[in-house]
Amino acid sequence: MRSVLVLHGPNLNLLGTREPGIYGTLTLAEIDRRLVELGRELGVEVRTRQSNTEGELIDALHDACDWAAGVVFNAAGYTHTSVALRDAVAAIGLPVIEVHLSNIYAREEFRHHSLLAPVCAGSISGLGVQSYLLALRALAEMPKQA
Ligand code: DQA
Repeated sequence: MRSVLVLHGPNLNLLGTREPGIYGTLTLAEIDRRLVELGRELGVEVRTRQSNTEGELIDALHDACDWAAGVVFNAAGYTHTSVALRDAVAAIGLPVIEVHLSNIYAREEFRHHSLLAPVCAGSISGLGVQSYLLALRALAEMPKQA
């Protein structure tokens, strides 16, 4: 069975109460539950992880090389700042899909630029939980890498 890592970055543990006008009212646990459920339908094992720490996110990406076919990644604020996370995404050689709950292009200018986008297989922004679910569908359909 194909396995996918869903990796959530800083402050996403606060979803549900964090700026609900922007991020909605779903909790991270509920988003993860929806992803695992869709994974079951698609025949994909979904493992989820959240960290507020850049180094732990890098370690999770490295670790995914040993077992995952791809990664759905919401790097949150690090999207706009982290060269180290971009380098990790480029290094692991797995398809990584960048996702955002909010439309980063409709928000403050500093959110318009993603350091990760150029090294990701694709990016989905602004569709709430659907950003994650669509990314999972795309990875499930991707041809297996040799
Ligand atoms: C986010 C968008 C980022 O700009 C922000 O820093 C986040 C969440 C999103 O999912 O919409 O923390 O990645």
